[in-house]
Amino acid sequence: MQIKGKTAVVTGGANGIGRALCLRFAKEGAKFIAISDVDEANGKAVADEMEKGQARFFPCDVSQEAQVKNLVESVSSAAGQVDIFCSNAGIAVAGGPETSDRDWKRSWEINTMAHVYAARAVLPQMLARKEGYLLQTVSAAGLLTSLGSAPYAVTKHAALGFAEWLAITYGEQGIRVSALCPQGVLTNMLKADHPGTKMLQAGAIEPEQVADDVVKAMAEERFMILPHPEAGKFFQNKANDYQRWIRGMQKLQRNLNV
Ligand SMILES: NC(=O)c1ccc[n+]([C@@H]2O[C@H](COP(=O)([O-])OP(=O)(O)OC[C@H]3O[C@@H](n4cnc5c(N)ncnc54)[C@H](O)[C@@H]3O)[C@@H](O)[C@H]2O)c1
Repeated sequence: MQIKGKTAVVTGGANGIGRALCLRFAKEGAKFIAISDVDEANGKAVADEMEKGQARFFPCDVSQEAQVKNLVESVSSAAGQVDIFCSNAGIAVAGGPETSDRDWKRSWEINTMAHVYAARAVLPQMLARKEGYLLQTVSAAGLLTSLGSAPYAVTKHAALGFAEWLAITYGEQGIRVSALCPQGVLTNMLKADHPGTKMLQAGAIEPEQVADDVVKAMAEERFMILPHPEAGKFFQNKANDYQRWIRGMQKLQRNLNV
């Protein structure tokens, strides 16, 4: 799909990867960009960087289904329809099984259920037109793991499972789905003082590079987007020999002392 002339919604659009996607879509000539986030100040600042009328900030907490539904309705009445929905907002919480239920639930709601709420809200109009694009920001953690963060590893695996399911189920009805699976990206999320995060900082890339890769992949209507190609190699290693991959990850974990 080409971005030119399309209406796109980007959740988590106020910062980081979401902000870069909004700005890149504007450069590609999108008709309208809905910058959506819980961070109103930065969301409005992103809208101010674009041409008047091309973008607007829409507040939405993606963990609340009613708000996601309202977002799709508001954008559809402001711009006619939603062509592209980028389910991008996400959070990373460090810890293992001892992590509080509250943080497990928040991770589940924001990193996984928000994709379900978005699909529920936007699919009916896309299926009626037999055209639409769902971009799901997952993470390489959805293919591999996340050292030091069980809630992130688990909820990103679930998000990837849902993206695959959508692509398989609706692909022949005109719905395109991509799963964006980067490793480290230089955003606020990567500033956390945590050994697992520090490891990712070494090979981290700018969010603008991620947005470039997204636009290329969307033009090709390619499912898997790997801004760090090595993540694809690691995924192959995992599939080829799970036992060896687990041993390798144990070693990495020991060396990092996460
Ligand atoms: N930065 C990385 O290294 C990295 C790597 C792989 C995947 N990701 C994923 O990329 C996505 C974007 O993260 P980022 O790196 O740009 O981080 P970021 O912290 O810069 O941006 C995340 C945005 O999501 C918003 N947000 C958080 N909770 C929300 C909620 N409940 N409702 C609506 N908005 C909410 C935040 O306000 C923020 O603007 C996330 O899904 C993240 O898991 C990031």
